[in-house]
Amino acid sequence: MKQTEQHLPKHIAIIMDGNGRWAEKRFMPRLFGHKAGVEALRSVISRCSSLGVEVLTLYAFSTENWKRPADEVGGLMELLVQFLQKEIAELHRNGIKIRCIGDLSALPERAQAEVEKARSLTESNTGLTVNIALNYGGRDELLRAAKGLAAAVASGSLALEEITADAFEKHLYTSGQPDPDLIIRTSGEQRISNFLLWQLAYSEFYFTDVLWPDFDSNELDKALETYAKRHRRFGKL
Ligand code: IPE
Ligand code: IPE
Ligand code: MG
Repeated sequence: MKQTEQHLPKHIAIIMDGNGRWAEKRFMPRLFGHKAGVEALRSVISRCSSLGVEVLTLYAFSTENWKRPADEVGGLMELLVQFLQKEIAELHRNGIKIRCIGDLSALPERAQAEVEKARSLTESNTGLTVNIALNYGGRDELLRAAKGLAAAVASGSLALEEITADAFEKHLYTSGQPDPDLIIRTSGEQRISNFLLWQLAYSEFYFTDVLWPDFDSNELDKALETYAKRHRRFGKL
């Protein structure tokens, strides 16, 4: 499929859902599904990179996902470490910039160290930016911004009238990046689950029943074709 520049989203955000159900269908443990999900991740990153997408944000672990059984949480953290260790050289070769959004301070030290390594290695790259959302919650991000602004006002470095949308945006994890043009959620669920609550104001949504481990570059192309037909109005006529 040919994507004209105008119809290609600058920023794609994905709620990668359905790993557990994918595994259950195969009578396998949930972690088997998460492992298969990493393969999907690889192909979607590579497709976005070659298409010239600017930013790809991937919801990998929410602030609510800590409520899952400890072995699943531990398994997900381990998969993150393995993914970064295995893939970082190749990602770097392809000019990809890895960033993480979310409160990383709560992650296991090993995961924090690996994330920091990936960030610093790729920080000058100019290709696709991949934001990995880890211990990310939209409400958490908004509270953090509100606290940052309140502290600036309290210290006298910011006037109340200076709290504008632009000033607010500077306190978000995604500061400086375009808002997501397209948000994709797999697995048939049609909800936001605390993802990018500020940034999604004018995003287009694409929901598919495909479970995340089955979401490949072909499925991404289908989402992009649908997006290309949307008429975005931003409140105008
Ligand atoms: C998404 O798959 C991955 C994470 C939330 C980490 P799920 O684990 O939510 O899979 P389902 O929704 O149970 O099928
Ligand atoms: C959203 O999926 C979070 C991630 C994909 C990381 P969940 O599976 O956690 O969302 P709910 O619980 O179905 O809303
Ligand atoms: Mg789920």
